[in-house]
Amino acid sequence: MSRPKLLLACLGAAAAVAITACGQKINVAEKDPTSAVHQGAVLFHERCGGCHTLKAAATHGSAPQGKVAYKERTDGPNLDYRKESVQDVLFAIRNGGFSGAIMPANVVVGPDAQKVAEFVSKYAGSKSTTGK
Ligand code: HEC
Repeated sequence: MSRPKLLLACLGAAAAVAITACGQKINVAEKDPTSAVHQGAVLFHERCGGCHTLKAAATHGSAPQGKVAYKERTDGPNLDYRKESVQDVLFAIRNGGFSGAIMPANVVVGPDAQKVAEFVSKYAGSKSTTGK
């Protein structure tokens, strides 16, 4: 009866390798992979990283700073420069950003949305100079 457990352990290892494949690690203080914030970071990396830069999740989806020429329509704000509350992130997730124009709504839902919101509110804005 030990086989299914072994298989699960391997799957877990494979997922971890995929996330660090390009040498970039999710960088959150929560080392415990079962913590909500850590899971939120993994979800953000997978679902939101294509459009948003956030250092703690090792994503670079926003347009490069100052390089407007490379900006694509779907590029979202660089979250290293924005402070976000849990409520604001949940609002953005449910409504598709603050304007509802470009970002898809409900990329994550329920408990997953809550985890992502907790992660983003904790780590976004690390480079913000305005306190916002
Ligand atoms: C297809 C690209 C795309 C994806 C995927 C995406 N976003 Fe966005 N996001 C945007 C764009 C574009 C904006 C800016 C326009 C707006 O606010 O309506 C935005 C805005 C936001 C804002 C508001 C930021 C501010 O201060 O103005 C938050 C918070 C946010 N996104 C979080 C997330 C989270 C969390 C996820 C994953 C669950 C996610 N986004 C997935 C494109 C995306």
